[in-house]
Amino acid sequence: MAVIRETDQFVEIMDEEIVLVKRDGVTIETLAGEEIEREAYTAELDASDIEKGTYPHYMLKETDEQPAVIRKIIQAYQNEAGDVTVNPKIVKELLDTDRIHIVACGTSYHAGLVGKNLIEKLAEVPVEVHVSSEFGYNMPLLTEKPLFIFITQSGETADSRQVLVKIKELGYRSLTITNVPGSTLDREADNTMYLHAGPEIAVASTKAYTAQIAALSILATVVGREKGLSMAIDFDLIVELGIVANAMETLVDSKETIEHIAGEYLATTRNAFFLGRHVDYFVAMEAALKLKEISYIQAEGFASGELKHGTIALIEDGTPVLALITQENINWNIRGNVKEVLARGANACILSMEGVNQPGDQFVIPKVHELLTPLASVVPCQLLAYYAALHRGCDVDKPRNLAKSVTVE
Ligand code: M6R
Repeated sequence: MAVIRETDQFVEIMDEEIVLVKRDGVTIETLAGEEIEREAYTAELDASDIEKGTYPHYMLKETDEQPAVIRKIIQAYQNEAGDVTVNPKIVKELLDTDRIHIVACGTSYHAGLVGKNLIEKLAEVPVEVHVSSEFGYNMPLLTEKPLFIFITQSGETADSRQVLVKIKELGYRSLTITNVPGSTLDREADNTMYLHAGPEIAVASTKAYTAQIAALSILATVVGREKGLSMAIDFDLIVELGIVANAMETLVDSKETIEHIAGEYLATTRNAFFLGRHVDYFVAMEAALKLKEISYIQAEGFASGELKHGTIALIEDGTPVLALITQENINWNIRGNVKEVLARGANACILSMEGVNQPGDQFVIPKVHELLTPLASVVPCQLLAYYAALHRGCDVDKPRNLAKSVTVE
């Protein structure tokens, strides 16, 4: 991306190769000095994809792009009959495995947690989700036919790549889900599924997260249908993703309300808690990460039932506690937890989904299918982090100490 204004022609370089830039041209050599011939490829990217346009920040632009990205994914994974479809080679791998291991970092790890729920419910394949940097120390006991799924926006994250190299050495199969064709994890895995989210430039990942979940929902549905599972067969994913895209549009149009909430709850605080249960807990973790990395507020995403086992000791007068509620079956439990923190003086804010909302909730998220709620509920959280960072005068797109691709372990 850094040089796309100069050229769209690129040549891949593998490990242990040396590029010699001389007056009369460029050659690639092995460490032993043998010259390597390799064709250039054309990058499918143009300079306008990486412009900010009229937006003050890439993060805001990328948050706003999410409805369009979901529609693009629907298009990319739809067949002529209007059904979702995935490369048969990939489907075969999922049909053939007895356990999936999702490996990822940061936001992609959080998408993996949501993906586990989707794959287990729709395709009935057991899934474990691993933080890449911990995998080497906590290598799971592997079953007979494990399949490793690497989720990575950039396709370059060193911690994830290290796991890929290791499991390849052990002879296991791999699938990368990435936004960047030609990236290292794309090239090195057995198969790849692309996100079609367009370049993500802000350090804080937004549209890649929702694209990852949408891609995982497609994969899970296709595999579930292939297995004849009624839950997947009855799930009209194309329609449901269309509803998600519309909901996202409403959400990105609610900036004024969200900016106001950010001002009221997050502008001056030193810490904040996001509470959730079930998939809302996974989104709470992502909401906290987003807030931490761009506003420098110490934030924690918490399974709200765990509060009373220790963390509630941190709640004092004015502590912001933001509760996410999208699921019917956890509605009253989490509202009970909110009452508990209110009784200890917390500044509590409820973001609930239409259908489970109650009078007095601070923000209502348009209704989407219960399996896809993270795609909608994360959007106000991304915007809350954005406006909190603005209120505090932080550099939204380039937060301190962080890089977009983490290429060191
Ligand atoms: O490119 P990847 O998806 O592999 O990157 C993983 C993380 O470094 C990344 O998601 C990071 O957590 C983001 N800055 C979060 O917004």
